[in-house]
Amino acid sequence: MIPHKTVEQVLETARIEEVVGEFVQLKRRGINLIGLCPFHSEKTPSFTVAPSKNFFKCFGCGKGGSAATFLMEHESFTFPEAIRWLANKYNIEIEEVQLTPEMLAAKQEEESLFILNDYARTFYEDQLFNTDVGKSVGLNYFKERGFREEIIKKFGLGFAPSEPDALTKAATAKGFRKDYLLKLGLTNRHGKDFFRNRVMFTIHNLSGKPVAFAGRIMKKDAKAPKYINSPETDIYTKSKILYGACFAKKSIQKQDECILVEGYTDVISLHQAGIENVVASSGTSLTEGQIGLIRRFTPNIKILYDGDPAGVKAALRGLDMVLENNMNVKIVLLPPGEDPDSYLQNVGVEEFERYLREEARDFILFKIQLLLEEVQDDPVKRAGLIRDIVGSIARIPDPIKRSAYIRECSKVMDVEESILHAETNKVVRSILEQRRRQKARKEGTQLNIVPEGETPAETTPTPPPQQARVTPHEFKEKDLARLLVAYGDKIYDEKENISIAEFVVAQLEGLLSEFKSKKYRKIVELSLQRLEEGKSVSPNFFIGHADKAISSMAVDLLHQPWDYSPGWEERGLFLNTQKMPDENVVNDAESALHRFLLNRMIKLCKQNQERIDKASEEGNEQELMTLLKVQAKLIHRRNSLADKTRTVVLKG
Ligand code: CTP
Ligand code: MN
Repeated sequence: MIPHKTVEQVLETARIEEVVGEFVQLKRRGINLIGLCPFHSEKTPSFTVAPSKNFFKCFGCGKGGSAATFLMEHESFTFPEAIRWLANKYNIEIEEVQLTPEMLAAKQEEESLFILNDYARTFYEDQLFNTDVGKSVGLNYFKERGFREEIIKKFGLGFAPSEPDALTKAATAKGFRKDYLLKLGLTNRHGKDFFRNRVMFTIHNLSGKPVAFAGRIMKKDAKAPKYINSPETDIYTKSKILYGACFAKKSIQKQDECILVEGYTDVISLHQAGIENVVASSGTSLTEGQIGLIRRFTPNIKILYDGDPAGVKAALRGLDMVLENNMNVKIVLLPPGEDPDSYLQNVGVEEFERYLREEARDFILFKIQLLLEEVQDDPVKRAGLIRDIVGSIARIPDPIKRSAYIRECSKVMDVEESILHAETNKVVRSILEQRRRQKARKEGTQLNIVPEGETPAETTPTPPPQQARVTPHEFKEKDLARLLVAYGDKIYDEKENISIAEFVVAQLEGLLSEFKSKKYRKIVELSLQRLEEGKSVSPNFFIGHADKAISSMAVDLLHQPWDYSPGWEERGLFLNTQKMPDENVVNDAESALHRFLLNRMIKLCKQNQERIDKASEEGNEQELMTLLKVQAKLIHRRNSLADKTRTVVLKG
């Protein structure tokens, strides 16, 4: 573990241009440096590094952040990994927080498991390339399937011989512990090899370490299962691993899309053909952990299904979860009887890529079509279908996207938009209600509003019971952040052509240090930066932000306005069913801002009063005079803000 102060020291020391410069060729332009963006394909550089602000930003794909975020994106590091890398570069010593003996033992065991798995991998590889049986049976099989030698090596393919304990014997002779062999599932309880007479596939984790194996039988008519897999262990959690992810991550980022297939051989085959942004869920349906993994690299996912409608339908049910994570899902149905590997081999890579491009269909629309065919004119089934689809749409966190889908679905299904809206909103409501209850249950916290003197009662929102502890000040900041995220691009003043974001940000620019909450402050900073770039501050900008913390906060802000004011809901803020009267947004913006500013004035008045007291104690006449003048101004400003917030509140 890295101590907090070291993290800060590292982040302060790291120079963005030096860090990025290790990976990207940068040229000076004015005070900034520019280069070709490593995160998307481009011919003219739009990737900018600003040493003065110590961040990078690509104006093409929108990715941006600090030296640490750069490493996390580019090298797929976790945050601690990025910090370690930087610490190493800048010769900052990390005094690790002391591990307990238990933690140390666990860490050592984990390392031993990796080392043993790596040994097994080289053993299977050696069998494949350097033994007669391995060559004639295993290698031959792979070559017949069209796998070239370099790809066989890259993916750690191998051969497990048919002797009952070839690996177990070799490994123990090397001094590896029996209990570790057992733990990894390489050896069974009887001391025999688990994988025998099979071609072997190494399963790697995201950083490319071998965590498990799969063995494929080669006899066609065998009663034994086609594939057998290592058990779950401390280093292998099935639901968190995507096969091929370590080889695909760079390309997924670059293409901004992840192709998902079912089988190991599909991944290898596509990869060999140059389609590298591909991973497999290994025959199981997608899990939350796997989606999280993909989400780290891209929100866009394209799923290739074998052309078997029954299987597809089953698979589609699991996909609502993908929507919930705000991913864009496309489906490609392959011709009957084909899997990605076979189809690619049949038609060649060019045709294959064209097929993926042209046959990709939006997940929800695809689902509707598939189900529509089935229900035909049966009204009961039709109603069921509508509920099913509405259930899917309701899981999309972005209200704008939801609306677009509803419009589209109303056309395809021939149902009025307003009905779909109403149904969707019902489901959204119940989902959120459910989540809120879960959260409350989990936290078990009680509502705890810190009282604060001069805030008018009406402006203090009345949250539902059982909510996490939030201070009034945080409410005000959250309010502002939510306004920027949800309505930043709405018009504040039509005549002057000023947007809500411009109005709010203009008044907050000098007051950023007043923010108590870093995350809400970040929203204001991002808005400011965005406006300076001459772009609009829209929900999509935040939702699609490269920083996962930002995008998920944006989703939350768009989602939960009634958390602190039941009134928001009726005003259409959250449900987005009808057009929001702009007037309301304007009022909301003003009152949110005034509440924030009022709070600050109250604080300034108090501080100044303290100075006055001190000056009068010390008998410092001149100072006292000045301070009193200041105080008069502050009080005037405070009172007028208090008036305004009341007026706005009463009007609203
Ligand atoms: N699978 C498994 N156990 C099985 C069958 C399948 O774990 N008994 C998983 C494997 O991850 C496999 C995927 O499901 O890769 C898809 O299965 P399938 O299409 O049957 O295999 P392919 O990958 O196409 O393998 P091959 O082309 O070698 O037949
Ligand atoms: Mn296959």
